[in-house]
Order: sequence, then C-alpha cells, then structure tokens
Amino acid sequence: MLTIKIPVQNIEATRQIVLNHKIIDFDYKIKVENGFGHIPINEGTDDDTISKVMEECKEEIIKINAGYTIEIIDLNQDEDLETVKRFPRSITELLKDKLTEEEIEELKKSFDIIGDVVIVEIPEDLEAHKKEIGDATLQFTKRKTVYMKKSAVKGVTRVRELELIAGEDNPITIHKEHGTRLKLDVKKVYFSPRLATERKRVQEATQDGEEILDMFAGIGPFPIVIAHEKNVNITAVDINEYAIKYLNENIKLNKLKDNAHITAICGDTNEVALNELKDKKFDRLIMNLPGLAPEFLGLAVSLCKDGGVIHYYEFSDGFSQGIERAQIACEKQNKKVEILNTRKVKSSSPGMWHVAIDCKVSEKSG
Ligand SMILES: C[S@@+](CC[C@H](N)C(=O)[O-])C[C@H]1O[C@@H](n2cnc3c(N)ncnc32)[C@H](O)[C@@H]1O
Repeated sequence: MLTIKIPVQNIEATRQIVLNHKIIDFDYKIKVENGFGHIPINEGTDDDTISKVMEECKEEIIKINAGYTIEIIDLNQDEDLETVKRFPRSITELLKDKLTEEEIEELKKSFDIIGDVVIVEIPEDLEAHKKEIGDATLQFTKRKTVYMKKSAVKGVTRVRELELIAGEDNPITIHKEHGTRLKLDVKKVYFSPRLATERKRVQEATQDGEEILDMFAGIGPFPIVIAHEKNVNITAVDINEYAIKYLNENIKLNKLKDNAHITAICGDTNEVALNELKDKKFDRLIMNLPGLAPEFLGLAVSLCKDGGVIHYYEFSDGFSQGIERAQIACEKQNKKVEILNTRKVKSSSPGMWHVAIDCKVSEKSG
C-alpha cells in the first residue's frame, strides 16, 4: 500500500493537496506514528500525479518544517493502515446504483417497522430488485427481518400475505409504543404502527373510571396504551383467535395502572353484544375497523351511555360522509350526536383517508 509520509504538522495541508488531486484512498485511515503521518493514496496512481503532489507537498513542508523531507512509502502488509469501517449513511446510498432517487423516496414512505420486523411495499416494476432492496433495508434499519407485502390486508381478520426478502423468517416480535410492549405475529394478526398518534390521542381523551369497549381490538394496542396510563375498565373484542391470544399476552407483558382492567373476548362483536355484553353500556367505544365500521354504527350507538363517546373510523375522502352516517344512526335510535373532533389518521390510497370522527352521543331531551 502506498502512503505519503510527512511530519505530523503537515498532515492537514498534505491531506488537502492529496484530496485536490483525488488520489486519497478513502478505504484506509491516516496513521500517525513517531511524529509522522501516513496518508494512504490510491493504488495505481500514475507517476506524473505523484510527482506533482510531491512538489506541492514539499512547498508546504518547507513553509513550516524546513529541513524535513517527504517520502512515498510502500508499506508492507504487517504495517498496513487501519481500514475505514464505512457504514452507509442512508438507504439512498445503498441503492443508488439500482434505483432512481424518486423510487427510493417512494420506497422509504412504504416502510412499516414493527419491533424487529420491517414490512416494505415494493412496486411491481421494482420487484426484480427485491433482494437488493431487502438487504439494504435490513442494513439501514438494523432490524432482523424484512418482509415484502404480497397482498393488501384482506378478509375478516385484516391480515396480509408476506414474503421474506431479507434476514430471518421470524414473524413474532415485540413492538414498543408509548411506553408499552406489544407482542404480535405479523403474519397472523393486524397491526399498524401508523396508528400510534391516534392511540395516544384517544388515551389522552380518556378519563379515569371510564367503561370502554374496543369493538375490534386486534392484539390490543388501544386498550393497552390507554390502560397503561388510565384507571379504566376495558372490554376488548376480536374475532381473530390469534389476536386475542396476543392481547392476553400483552395484558401480562405490560404494567397497567393499579385500577385498570382489560377483559379480552374472542368472537364476532355482533354476537358478543347479544351475549357477554347484554344490558351493558359504555362511556367510550373504539371502532377501528374502517372498511366495515358503518355496518356496526347502529350497534355502537345502542351500546353507548348517555353522553358517551364513539371513536368512529372509516375510509373516505373527507369527513362529511362519516358525520352523516353518525347522525342517521343516532336519529334512528332517537339520539343526538355532537361531533367533538375529526382527524385524518393516515392515507389509505390516493385521495382516500383513514379518518377518525369522535361522536358524543346523547339522549334527545323531551
Ligand atoms: C383494522 S384491525 C384493528 C385492530 C386494532 N384495533 C388495531 O388498531 O391494531 C380490525 C380488527 O377487527 C377484527 N374483526 C373483524 N371483524 C370483526 C367482527 N365482526 N367482530 C370482532 N372483530 C372483528 C379483525 O380480526 C381485526 O383484528
């Protein structure tokens, strides 16, 4: 390996000259030893360039260190310079030879990091690069597993097909959110980290002492995040037996408030309402099943206490459709609705949103 040996006082000036001539070898670190510095230069640098660099360096050395010389040293292997461990600064750097910047930017927006698992959406025209994308994602995120989405979320349980593209095939992980730990199997249950802000918002709206029903609880992120901070009694229902299995594990995994309690029930909310929840009413209801929630609005209104709040979610381009649906559902039961809040939770497809509408439901007086 070729290095330029110069007195330590001249390292910076020499480095600048070597940089200007683009012959510095970035794979190695500059070595300082016995009052001298060794600056690595690229193998194969031509003699003319070396001569020019030496001349410029000599001038600098003479300015500061008259009497010292400059040498080109061919270090043998034993005294080689330490290699530079270069970590890629970003996924852009890792993929820049394969994908355009726009493609990389799109890809970045599609990442969902759930515990040690990354789920990435790869457009069809980039599927040929899935291996490189997987490896780059693994390196960039420093997680253990990268799955590629193979379908949209589908069916009653809202689960999607996944294909392993990098790392170990382990879909079970623990995701941390707002001081809680949420265990899940990404292949068997629905979970979206993009709802974290929404869960915090609902937690903050909740008062101690409330009776809450999560009608479509999944692995229980809303109940766990709420009960972690508030003394509440939550009934959490889901039709997916795996979701309920993890919900029960998550209840044990987390430190809930002293007087908080969560009851997990596996079943169809319509049937659970007729049986386990017969004659029960709630201060707050959470309806995060945006594709089908309109069908359950009537049930939610019937289970809501006078003055209670329903967090209603649907897919829409705005809020007017959901507000109208809430008004109709309340009207049918001779109740009135006050809209407390509306929010776009996340984008679901171009022009469409997963929207939240907070509805306060009250008996009509008189
Ligand atoms: C969009 S996920 C939301 C899960 C959870 N609330 C969350 O935020 O992660 C909807 C959940 O509703 C459940 N589900 C679908 N239909 C149901 C029904 N009729 N009764 C109870 N749960 C149902 C699914 O199994 C799924 O876990």
